[in-house]
Amino acid sequence: MEQGVQRSGTSLGARLSDALGLAADRQLLLHSSRDLMDAESLRVWARDALSGNRLVVVSNREPYSHRRGPGGVRMNRNPGGLVVALDAVLRATGGTWVAHGSGDADEEYSDKRGRLAVPEDGPAYTLARQWLSEGDVRRYYAGFANGALWPLSHLVFVRPRLDELDWESYRQVNRRFARAALEEVGRDPGVVLLQDYHLAMCAGYIKAERPDLRVALFWHIPWPGPDVFRVLPWKEALLDGLLANDVLGFHLREHGMSFLETVASELEARVDFARMTVDRRGHTTRIRAFPIGTDVDGIARHSSGAACRAATARWRERLGLGPGPVALGVDRLDYTKGIPERFQALRRLLEKYPRWRGSLQFVQVGVPTRVELPEYRELTARVEALAQGLNRDFGSVGRPFLHLIKHDLDFADVVALYRLGNVAAVTPLHDGMNLVAKEYVAARPDLGGALVLSRFTGAAREFRTAALVNPYDTEAVADAMDEVLSTPTSEARRRMAALRERLLRNTIYDWAKDLLDCVLRLDPQFEEGR
Ligand code: F6P
Repeated sequence: MEQGVQRSGTSLGARLSDALGLAADRQLLLHSSRDLMDAESLRVWARDALSGNRLVVVSNREPYSHRRGPGGVRMNRNPGGLVVALDAVLRATGGTWVAHGSGDADEEYSDKRGRLAVPEDGPAYTLARQWLSEGDVRRYYAGFANGALWPLSHLVFVRPRLDELDWESYRQVNRRFARAALEEVGRDPGVVLLQDYHLAMCAGYIKAERPDLRVALFWHIPWPGPDVFRVLPWKEALLDGLLANDVLGFHLREHGMSFLETVASELEARVDFARMTVDRRGHTTRIRAFPIGTDVDGIARHSSGAACRAATARWRERLGLGPGPVALGVDRLDYTKGIPERFQALRRLLEKYPRWRGSLQFVQVGVPTRVELPEYRELTARVEALAQGLNRDFGSVGRPFLHLIKHDLDFADVVALYRLGNVAAVTPLHDGMNLVAKEYVAARPDLGGALVLSRFTGAAREFRTAALVNPYDTEAVADAMDEVLSTPTSEARRRMAALRERLLRNTIYDWAKDLLDCVLRLDPQFEEGR
């Protein structure tokens, strides 16, 4: 029995059968008696476990931004997987979230220190916005984080840009985020949870002033192998920055092992592969795998409600969708997401299986992202051209084969689309986890829909019963699409039930509890017991 853990969740089997309400699936799902972590049980657990420690989360992207539009200023909930997942955690635990205030009306809606209580409809935690200049965003965010570390970490054959001034800006901005986190902790004991590859240097600056604080960083993307990482001119400094954390989390154990191999080949340090620890200059860093989950209950509840049903109907009408099946892609317009490769596979599907011509329609959400970088602008142009080509060859007047929705959507709109899709095609070339796959399954307690999923995502490790594909293999993706579209409903429902069962074993609340638990209990005795 874990110390201090109070569970208010019900058993997995019982909850699944409630959520699904399907007698046929009960037999399939009732075998598990594991308790579920939910928002309430995380809240109760965190209150005891944190006992007086301040909780500060730091990420580049903010969960909510204030933006000007034709109807005045709106507070938007940002759609990225990271922020949606962490927002659910902080709503449960409370605390402070330090992030870049990127909305054009953010300053007007925050106090002098950039702080405000969020969410608007029931404040649960503090958002502490940091102001970055255009130059910072160009060099730290677009330049180093997304121009160097992003392509370096994803095996997609995009060359990283390595610029000394970007690196300098990255360190400066990391120092600013560190200072902000220290201010939020004040003189109290605290836990700082850093998020992602934007903040690799933060822990060092925090620990230099407050070595007593517990600091963890969760790296949301893959970790490159030592052969790739060694091209980074500032590799030792970056590794030392990461090793200042007490805990360094990855989605997969394999990413953690890759990190250990990188440290072993680049630094003088004691690397223990069995215990997954690094000792360097008297400090121990634990490397752990915490596969991120999603707010399964929250999404399922929302997706089953009347508002979502109405929004799904509005999408059908707005897009003029016919009675045939609808397939769906939801991605940021990022070259790691495999959108051109997916479109090529769709062309092959329609050529090889002509029965889908005139009946199947594809809806692709492509949220513009990182447009400061030419690779992203080029990708957008390529995606548009491929979409036009598909519509020219397979659409008809007033009835395009492919709808390309190329703007930001509210999360509620995305969930409404999840309910529309008979198939979701989630086919990144490389992805740490991919929360779209998990959100889609979370949104289908009706057991409708099917998932075609790239093998090169972290999610594929959990969703072994999805239609797994190599996204580079056009023929195989076309065949998989045909196979899932042709699957009889009873079998498709059985497959979706199996995906949901897997999903419910590890939600965002389990992820948060496991990460926090690990950083709060660094004593060797506890480590032995894990
Ligand atoms: O995949 C890495 C990641 O940081 C996600 O965690 C997040 O959802 C996404 O990139 C968002 O990117 P950006 O903040 O650049 O829009």
